[in-house]
Amino acid sequence: MSRLVVVSNRVAPIDEGQPAAGGLAVGVLAVLSETGGIWFGWNGEITPTQPSKPDLTKVGQLSYATIGMTRRDYNDYYTGFANSTLWPLFHYRLDLTQFDQRNFTGYLRVNSRFARALQPLLRVDDRIWVHDYHLIPLGDELRRAGSDHPIGFFLHTPLPAVEILLALPRHEQLMRALCAYDLVGFQTVHDLSAFYDYIVLETGGEVRPDGTVHAYGRTLRAGVFPIGVDAENIVKIAAKHDSSPEAARLKEVLHNRKLIIGVDRLDYSKGLPQRFRAFEAMLEAEPSMHGKVTLMQVAPPSREAVGGYTEIRHELETLAGHINGRFADFDWVPIRYLNKSFDRDELTCFYRHSKVGLVTPLRDGMNLVAKEFVASQNEKDPGVLVLSRFAGAAHELEDALIVNPYDLGDVANAIHKGLTMPLRERKARWRALIAQVRRHDVHQWRNEFLGALERMPDEG
Ligand code: UDP
Ligand code: G6P
Repeated sequence: MSRLVVVSNRVAPIDEGQPAAGGLAVGVLAVLSETGGIWFGWNGEITPTQPSKPDLTKVGQLSYATIGMTRRDYNDYYTGFANSTLWPLFHYRLDLTQFDQRNFTGYLRVNSRFARALQPLLRVDDRIWVHDYHLIPLGDELRRAGSDHPIGFFLHTPLPAVEILLALPRHEQLMRALCAYDLVGFQTVHDLSAFYDYIVLETGGEVRPDGTVHAYGRTLRAGVFPIGVDAENIVKIAAKHDSSPEAARLKEVLHNRKLIIGVDRLDYSKGLPQRFRAFEAMLEAEPSMHGKVTLMQVAPPSREAVGGYTEIRHELETLAGHINGRFADFDWVPIRYLNKSFDRDELTCFYRHSKVGLVTPLRDGMNLVAKEFVASQNEKDPGVLVLSRFAGAAHELEDALIVNPYDLGDVANAIHKGLTMPLRERKARWRALIAQVRRHDVHQWRNEFLGALERMPDEG
């Protein structure tokens, strides 16, 4: 079996073995801890000068090759083009999308630098798997540096409809670079269709019935590979929390109240203000719930150097304060808003003891929290997943209560329905959900993607 080389901007911290919050690092770590190989990416540090070589660290069969970046690269590439242009654009937030040529140049510069730093580490028979919107041009840069390895790319975010993509001033350059890969993977059929539309409508390229794409003089494959979670492992960890000290502490704090759980990076794409308002609307409509439920929202700060993120943080603090001020009593606080990250073991405990999992993003590539919530439930008394139709996960988890996150009444009703759902219905829905989460887990994601990467385009 040839060696797997994974490249992503964010690399999970080495010592702790626990990735920072974010679905990409969680998925990649699950893949690499099994297959071994190299994980190349940014070490999260800002350095005074640009290091030319990555630092190498071996943990078991996995080698980390990580590299720092200068303040200028961090500003132009990470804060700039990746997170002030592509992230909002790909999440349909044209109002927050900024374009600055200097940032775009920085984005290309860092991609080229990553390629040059990675190239000397490669062996002839390596397979390379590049992840996410930060690194779209990396495959093209590797090709220019002489690589003829199989190179695949997976987009963890949505790919927006063509009309949105066209608003990006350098869309042609970006999409041309995307076509330098041998295989491009998306989370859902919507993302894949957006890609096909762009190829056909904008490049004059062709999409063959088998999904092979011809564009910019190249032939590549594209497909849907929904990312999953390590379901079996979560099931095991969750069972432990039936009687763990953490669970005892949680129960003590809850005082028999029903727990509603939300877990999201503090990102404007996650629909947190709308979620808080929907919870408020539920409390307003259902006085019988006062004192009986707690919404615990875990929201670790994210990308704080980017404008939109500071605003959402202030907005949520104000909203939580307003709702608690309006409904709280001397012995009950409706919202516990936790602005910090928790490790995944603790989160599994929270999910296990929740009656409702609230996953209501305005737009999300997949949303692993939805799948983690399902995998953590107790089969004898499962909680209910309330899931936004705009999360990639809604394409698979059809037995959740699917809601429109922009419709406060819809979400408020679903929360109430989840809290009061009879055991029989909860079990029936959960059985269908867990079967899906188990079948399409992170191992299947890896096998399907790497299997497709091995089949080169002209072999049909
Ligand atoms: N996560 C975590 N600690 C936290 C919050 C989130 O470990 O305090 C993890 C969570 O368990 C999940 C991932 O971060 O695996 C978030 O992935 P998701 O796909 O839901 O959203 P993303 O952050 O990638 O947009
Ligand atoms: C999402 C993105 C990932 C990113 C993660 C955390 O999952 O798809 O690429 O790593 O958020 O964001 P950060 O900017 O902290 O890496």
